[in-house]
Amino acid sequence: METIKYITIFYIITCLPYAITTNTQRATKFDLLIYTQQWPATTCKEWKKNDPSHTCSMPKNVDSWTIHGIWPTKLGSMGPAFCNRTWLFDPEKIRPIENQLSQVWINIFGGTSLYSLWAHEWNKHGTCAAVLEPLNSELKYFSFGIDLLQNFSMTNILQSENIVPSNTKEYSVVEINNAIKQKLGVDPAIECKKENGESYLAEIRICFTKDFKITNCDGIMTRKVVDYHSVLTNCNLSKKILYPHYKDKSFYVQIYKLISWLQWFTL
Ligand SMILES: *[C@@H]1O[C@H](CO)[C@@H](O)[C@H](O)[C@H]1NC(C)=O
Ligand SMILES: *[C@@H]1O[C@H](CO)[C@@H](O)[C@H](O)[C@H]1NC(C)=O
Ligand SMILES: *[C@@H]1O[C@H](CO)[C@@H](O)[C@H](O)[C@H]1NC(C)=O
Repeated sequence: METIKYITIFYIITCLPYAITTNTQRATKFDLLIYTQQWPATTCKEWKKNDPSHTCSMPKNVDSWTIHGIWPTKLGSMGPAFCNRTWLFDPEKIRPIENQLSQVWINIFGGTSLYSLWAHEWNKHGTCAAVLEPLNSELKYFSFGIDLLQNFSMTNILQSENIVPSNTKEYSVVEINNAIKQKLGVDPAIECKKENGESYLAEIRICFTKDFKITNCDGIMTRKVVDYHSVLTNCNLSKKILYPHYKDKSFYVQIYKLISWLQWFTL
């Protein structure tokens, strides 16, 4: 029950703007598809912040970007969402790609159902995206997410511009934005999470037209302008941000135990 409560709270916080607009606006039309990748180390940090007993399910390569979702969106507003309340996520439909999905579209929230992220993404966003023929089934929607990661993985894109995870070196959001723009030729949107006065790189969104051509994310919600650079972000532009490595606390706990044991042993 506790876990369900936390998931609910988490989704309410992260999806509140969507919830507000979808209640008043039932239209299912949209302009763009937002393809959102998440940085697992930051998602994990956020999940543990809610409750220190939380654990994370990390991808095998902990320093790789994973998929959050493909979100149909209207310019200047959020949503549509939940376009077909009777077309609910069915795990049987994604069986053929389940192993792959459980790495690249992984549910980071340890202890919660393997399917909870996929069910949420399909029920909320997939049912809306399904008006487009290439996305008109669960299998197609999730397969398309995997295909997009092969072409647009932020792991590769950022690395090729020398932006790599570090627990010490910080980056400016403009620098990250420009690296992506340099590589893809379009404006992305960059999301941060804040903790103890630090900002952490959390999500990068890139946008596609309804005929699947990459395009600027300009016009989607969250916009700030700095100097002559136009950067779509919720990050604080006057402060550098961390693009952290995943830190497994239990690893440090184990080292600590080992050292304690060695000290005792050598006394
Ligand atoms: C909603 O989904 C169900 C199940 O796939 C389908 O039969 C129905 O036609 C859909 N409704 C709309 C309005 O698309
Ligand atoms: C990925 O790139 C390949 C090769 O450039 C292209 O044929 C394919 O359409 C792309 N797929 C997506 C989903 O963008
Ligand atoms: C952004 O960062 C600057 C510099 O650390 C700080 O003075 C400012 O209050 C921050 N703004 C917000 C909205 O957090």
